[in-house]
Amino acid sequence: MTPEDVKAFFDAHWTVRRFKTFELPREHLDVLLHAAQRAPTDATAQMYSFVQLRDPALRARIGELTGNPHFAAASVAFVVCADVYRLRRVLEARGYPYGKWPAAAVHFSIGDAVMAAQNMLIAAEMLGYRGCWIGGVLSALPEVMELLALPELVFPFAGLVVGVPDEAPKSRPRVARSLILHEDRYRLPTGAEIEGALADMAPITARGDWAQTLAGYFALGGTMEARDVTLQAVLARQGFSHVRSFDEAFARAETLGFADLRVRRRGEGFEAWLDRVEAAHRGEGNSPLQALLEAIEDASQAAHGWEG
Ligand SMILES: Cc1cc2nc3c(=O)[nH]c(=O)nc-3n(C[C@H](O)[C@H](O)[C@H](O)COP(=O)(O)O)c2cc1C
Repeated sequence: MTPEDVKAFFDAHWTVRRFKTFELPREHLDVLLHAAQRAPTDATAQMYSFVQLRDPALRARIGELTGNPHFAAASVAFVVCADVYRLRRVLEARGYPYGKWPAAAVHFSIGDAVMAAQNMLIAAEMLGYRGCWIGGVLSALPEVMELLALPELVFPFAGLVVGVPDEAPKSRPRVARSLILHEDRYRLPTGAEIEGALADMAPITARGDWAQTLAGYFALGGTMEARDVTLQAVLARQGFSHVRSFDEAFARAETLGFADLRVRRRGEGFEAWLDRVEAAHRGEGNSPLQALLEAIEDASQAAHGWEG
């Protein structure tokens, strides 16, 4: 491939949301999955899983829940998950206790999942298909997770669907390269450059106002704020949270549905109780926080199934 060929290939990337009815040949699906697994991965760990949605009713339901009907219409549909559960099982199989690294686990598992899935999308585009990433999964995270029966240490990053386009190609703009490429040190953009980015991106929106489009997601009151609350609760429930203070531990207990908390001295140590009408969980430890964390751990395990 010449440099021009490579550029032309990437210029022909475009996201598709309308698909023809088409059954992906088995050998093409094999290529997609092969490409995904050949992606680089942090420390060889492969911290990701793809849940392929095969049941048409499930695909329709997830399309509905996430506001992305292309989940159902594409030839193949996946929910791309960050997954540290399998890694923990590998460690435990040889007797190594799993470490305490929740923030790094989120960081590297999302990185792994994105690299694998983007490899898959590129392979699909090489075969002439087109696809769509679907972050809309975050609009119905608990529901999707329950439908997919995800265990702890696993959470969806996004959906990815692939198929044969039933819409005209549309090349969408990007901001100027000078804004994304920094040499040796970060260079703050000027006001004029920000205006330039707004002008460059204007054609992507119906009303010609990129900031207005972004605001619907990222400004005060935008959809990301609501997603963030759910995501934080999901990460805490799935075992991805750093609890360093008593305040944070109490917030975690509340997330699990327990607002009634008792901590008391017991012998040399402490005892914590988390209560609600239908369940109580107890922990012990050398400090109030440790006792509470043990009760939370017990409650977290019991809470599997999202009843809280
Ligand atoms: C992480 C991520 C999440 C996305 N979520 C959605 C989505 O929920 N629904 C959708 O229709 N498109 C979604 N997209 C597609 C983007 O809107 C699209 O990539 C962007 O507008 C640029 O267009 P292009 O890919 O055609 O160049 C998502 C893309 C990414 C990378």
